[in-house]
Amino acid sequence: MSGIKASGQKRLVLVSGRAHPELAENIAGELGSELVPTDARTFANGEIYARFDESVRGCDAFVIQSHSTPINEWLMEQLIMVDALKRASAKRITVVAPFYPYARQDKKGRGREPISARLVADLFKTAGADRIMSVDLHAAQIQGFFDGPVDHLFAMPVLLEYFKERLDPENLTVVSPDMGRVRVADNWSDKLGAPLAIIHKRRDPLVPNQVSVHEIVGDVKGRVCLLVDDLIDTGRTIVKAAEALKENGATGVVVASTHAVFSDPAPEILQSSSIDKVVVTDTLPLSDAQTFEKLEVLSIAPLLARAIREVFEDGSVTSLFDGAA
Ligand code: R5P
Repeated sequence: MSGIKASGQKRLVLVSGRAHPELAENIAGELGSELVPTDARTFANGEIYARFDESVRGCDAFVIQSHSTPINEWLMEQLIMVDALKRASAKRITVVAPFYPYARQDKKGRGREPISARLVADLFKTAGADRIMSVDLHAAQIQGFFDGPVDHLFAMPVLLEYFKERLDPENLTVVSPDMGRVRVADNWSDKLGAPLAIIHKRRDPLVPNQVSVHEIVGDVKGRVCLLVDDLIDTGRTIVKAAEALKENGATGVVVASTHAVFSDPAPEILQSSSIDKVVVTDTLPLSDAQTFEKLEVLSIAPLLARAIREVFEDGSVTSLFDGAA
């Protein structure tokens, strides 16, 4: 039988959806455990079916799923798995969603819009989730959408380690690509001992995925710029930001981003841009077509595994980030 038993006979059970099996396997490996064998499939009409091949009665279950394309399918699969665990008498169910689905729809920007991130939280709750674990939520307030504990993890220590070894703070400026990332970028600037610059970006609410840069606040001339963002989707925000930095005299541009959504045309425009390096984590799977020469992918599995262990052992998830975020 898969899973880890703690002294009090609690059993930790890991199950995974089909979106990113490699990440789930790596998390299980870090925990010295195995995933529960699961029969998950899609019927001809698109309906999803899932059944666990072992008993999950009384267990502390963690349902790992990455919300990549096709995001609605993977979301539904995770909901179905939570439902199956609930009906099979799992004692506690944690949704592990390293990239929270619909996170960018966290408020009404205009009248008659949905708040889809809240709807997703409600769906998890209704399915039977007791808690949610996620990495770098696009907006921290999403934690309040779910009526239960939310473990909000930060990829910053993972990414920071990479850059600390490679960048000289004397010649470095940390850059927020828009107003929404200023707090996070400010944190990076503290940790790296480098000044902060901010880009004033604008989007036309009526034209999705189009970005324009208005102004750069801060010192970038003659400096290497580290652009920090939570996610890269089409890549336009980061590429436009890099272009603006170069036009304003930056000598180099590197990028740190947690979630590599990489919708078209991201891989192509990132590779052909003036950016020197794009460093992401593997919260989302990447196909061959989504990888490119300038890309470096760091594993988020050790961090997720440590957080899962802390939750299982009633330890402290906060302690993982003491002094880090
Ligand atoms: C915006 O608020 C986010 O932090 C990202 O900058 C944005 O969603 C990235 O989208 P894209 O890569 O399509 O410009």
